[in-house]
Amino acid sequence: MAQFRLPTGSQVTAGRTFEAAGEAGVVRNFTVYRWDPDRGENPRLDTYRIDVADCGPMVLDALIKIKNEVDPTLTFRRSCREGVCGSCAMNIGGTNTLACIKPLEELGDSVKIYPLPHLPVVKDLVPDLTNFYAQYASVEPWLQTDTAKPSRERLQSREDREKLDGLYECVLCACCSTSCPSYWWNGDRYLGPAVLLQAYRWIADSRDEATGDRLDALEDPFRLYRCHTIMNCARTCPKHLNPAKAIADIKWLLLKRR
Ligand code: SF4
Ligand code: SF4
Ligand code: FES
Repeated sequence: MAQFRLPTGSQVTAGRTFEAAGEAGVVRNFTVYRWDPDRGENPRLDTYRIDVADCGPMVLDALIKIKNEVDPTLTFRRSCREGVCGSCAMNIGGTNTLACIKPLEELGDSVKIYPLPHLPVVKDLVPDLTNFYAQYASVEPWLQTDTAKPSRERLQSREDREKLDGLYECVLCACCSTSCPSYWWNGDRYLGPAVLLQAYRWIADSRDEATGDRLDALEDPFRLYRCHTIMNCARTCPKHLNPAKAIADIKWLLLKRR
């Protein structure tokens, strides 16, 4: 009879609990996924009891407090601390989001924090985004033109500029792609919502002159058409963007030019 087992090292075990230090005010439990490739052990869930009365208001503040005051081995990415670099994307309370703009007051007394789902883990809360960035590079995300350079910048009407609203704000955090079931199962060939939204950002740009080539590159059963309009992407985007709409707009343009 066939036997099905989890891959080696994939089973998450119970970890340590770190009690809040000193005279704690408002204690919350943060249960955090931990995995260190150098230790040769299975991943574990460590729980940190933190006094949030003595902490900034966001989940990232709590993680920084844990790292500074309790456990310096905890590893996570962050940079801007204001939702513009996209580095601190992780799964918080079951939803992919940016830790630096996720208020603690929106979460209960116990919060579970995991890395973005369905990606290889580098360490603790840091996912490996190599494939994601390679897919981003594959859509050639820069302005492409054939016509002669104007003496100054390439102009765009106010109306054409407004067509980029809802697209240019994407911070490439990968929250949407890693919440998309189609991307979970076909992430090697399906570009996923984040990269397709970025592809559409250039297709929609009136100054870009490579629209035909860009559409040709997307007309593929896997790269584009694995989107089944499940809408997890729009629900999870911490910048309130709608990648599913961008994908639908690309499909519409492909249909229109047939
Ligand atoms: S569309 Fe939203 S969730 Fe997706 S990468 Fe951009 S900012 Fe992140
Ligand atoms: S709408 Fe498309 S891209 Fe968005 S989650 Fe669903 S399948 Fe993925
Ligand atoms: S630290 Fe930059 S988006 Fe959170």
